[in-house]
Amino acid sequence: MLLKIPSLLTSSQIQQCRELLYATDWIDGDITAGYQSSKAKNNLQLPEHSDVSRQLGDVILDALATNDLFISAALPLKIFPPLFNCYQAGQSFGAHVDNAIRRVPGTPVKVRTDISITLFFTPPEEYDGGELVIDDTYGSHRVKFDAGDMVLYPSTSLHHVTPVTRGHRLASFFWLQSLVACGEKRRLLFDMDRAIQSLTKRLDDSQEIIKLTGIYHNLMRHWSQT
Ligand code: NI
Repeated sequence: MLLKIPSLLTSSQIQQCRELLYATDWIDGDITAGYQSSKAKNNLQLPEHSDVSRQLGDVILDALATNDLFISAALPLKIFPPLFNCYQAGQSFGAHVDNAIRRVPGTPVKVRTDISITLFFTPPEEYDGGELVIDDTYGSHRVKFDAGDMVLYPSTSLHHVTPVTRGHRLASFFWLQSLVACGEKRRLLFDMDRAIQSLTKRLDDSQEIIKLTGIYHNLMRHWSQT
């Protein structure tokens, strides 16, 4: 499932983040690429342990913790600390599938990448190109969202970023391990949760809603891994 999370960050948060990103030092993006993807990757990245990276990562994680749409869709168990990249002057990232397992630097924690995430910091009108193109069995999806918007997509997808031919494209990217590994099951739980939320607004606490909510949680019990 490919899902847009609109306005994860406010425009003033985006403004503050961008000021910090423009003022800091960047390094070659190869630093976190696997063997195959390092051959396809051509961009800049913030050092993972830099103060700016941690500070902005915390802003993102705080916003995720209170975003109902994100929690319902992702059912997050472990979130990799957000990374930051910049594409400019023709830079791009060729077709690849993200590494399956990521170790959080400096810790023994391993994250299985079930869901890949890109959060946009630059409005689309400020740069040309830089589309995130995600291939799945329903075809190719071109993603270029407004600043503050975020996309979730299955980490199993082949994807690439087209060359940025004007301006800069600033973004955060990271992965998460979901409580529910299977994307199909996650999708069913997401659809069910949204339907229950919508029914609850119309019918209050009817017996049927109580039953459906119970079924949701019992499916979670069957399908989740902690
Ligand atoms: Ni990728």
